[in-house]
Amino acid sequence: MLLPSTLLSAKSFIMPSTVKKSLLPIFILSLCLNCYALPSTPGLQLPSHLVTQFPHIAWIENTAARSNGDLLFTELKPQPILYTVINPASTSPNVSVIHDFSLNETQSLLGIAETSNDVFVVVSAANSTGLFVAWSVNLKSKPGPHISKITELVGAKLPNGVTNVPGCPEQVLIADSFAGLVWSLNTVTKSLQVAVQVPEMVPPANITGRTPVGVNGIKMHDNYLYWTNSALATVYRIKIGAGGGTAEKQAKVEVVAKLPVSFVDDFVINDQGVLFAMASSDNQVWATSARPGGRTVAVIGGKDQATVSGATAGAMGRGKGDKHILYVVTSGADIHGNLTATEGGKVVAVDTRSFSI
Ligand SMILES: *[C@@H]1O[C@H](CO)[C@@H](O)[C@H](O)[C@H]1NC(C)=O
Ligand SMILES: *[C@@H]1O[C@H](CO)[C@@H](O)[C@H](O)[C@H]1NC(C)=O
Ligand SMILES: *[C@@H]1O[C@H](CO)[C@@H](O)[C@H](O)[C@H]1NC(C)=O
Ligand SMILES: *[C@@H]1O[C@H](CO)[C@@H](O)[C@H](O)[C@H]1NC(C)=O
Repeated sequence: MLLPSTLLSAKSFIMPSTVKKSLLPIFILSLCLNCYALPSTPGLQLPSHLVTQFPHIAWIENTAARSNGDLLFTELKPQPILYTVINPASTSPNVSVIHDFSLNETQSLLGIAETSNDVFVVVSAANSTGLFVAWSVNLKSKPGPHISKITELVGAKLPNGVTNVPGCPEQVLIADSFAGLVWSLNTVTKSLQVAVQVPEMVPPANITGRTPVGVNGIKMHDNYLYWTNSALATVYRIKIGAGGGTAEKQAKVEVVAKLPVSFVDDFVINDQGVLFAMASSDNQVWATSARPGGRTVAVIGGKDQATVSGATAGAMGRGKGDKHILYVVTSGADIHGNLTATEGGKVVAVDTRSFSI
């Protein structure tokens, strides 16, 4: 979900007394680079090209890559449609509709995740306050995709990002941005339970002028649950116990990175452990290490640039020749990061081959 940008409030920091005088300039410089990158900081511009774009105003909310290399993406508005981009790395990729959920009392599509090969879970909303549903989209079935309703997400306030749980193909975790928690859904028994609920998932109530979106994107990586708290522009993680359902006993929340942007939407972690986060209101993609405490760097876009303006989510390529491509989807928001869309949502291919963190 994309929100109006608000300037970062400056924060003071406390200088550790153990820092040697001669190191101070370097220390301050690195702090500045990490935490106070100005909007005019150019950052990197990794090579990129447009894969496809709606010819009309339309918001793409999330994306996932299939094992055959095709992409899937969900439309939030105006139509709740699940699309596929066939062979996104080709010079003439085709886009087609997998399912139009407006036939099924749905207004918006949100997160998507693959639970087992070519079986996906998609979350939808019928209106802004309720009737959230988890759907199963089976792309293995013949003659065509089989769509079925798993369950209504009773009690959810704004289900958003979805992740699979390695080793537990029946299960998905679903971020709830307004409730400030992560649900666990068993797609077979349809049991819905709170999996993780920690203060770092809660939308901060004290940020004026911005919709309070807390936990948003979620991904499992190396037995950790990673998530973004959008309004806090921070990525966190917590260790998940065996069985994949809940946080390990006594597990502590770790800050992976705080980004110097006003809002962080969804993110991707690649095979090398590089985390790419979508700074939707700042029209940028930022990178950091999936290990806490690494540097943060903008890798594409900029406040006043349309390249990836309104970036909402991403997926690494899974085709033969595009495993180094980060596919970024966008809401079509204007370059000032407010809610006015001025172009159709698009899919942009970002070449990350030359990048390491
Ligand atoms: C897309 O469709 C066009 C026209 O039907 C076809 O020529 C082209 O090969 C297709 N591209 C892919 C990647 O399937
Ligand atoms: C939205 O969905 C909820 C849950 O089904 C329902 O109670 C409510 O009346 C709906 N609101 C609108 C405006 O349709
Ligand atoms: C969606 O709605 C259409 C039209 O009413 C119906 O044929 C189809 O079975 C529905 N699909 C699901 C998964 O409910
Ligand atoms: C707002 O809340 C966040 C955490 O929810 C806190 O870190 C921050 O200091 C608060 N800001 C103000 C101005 O109270």
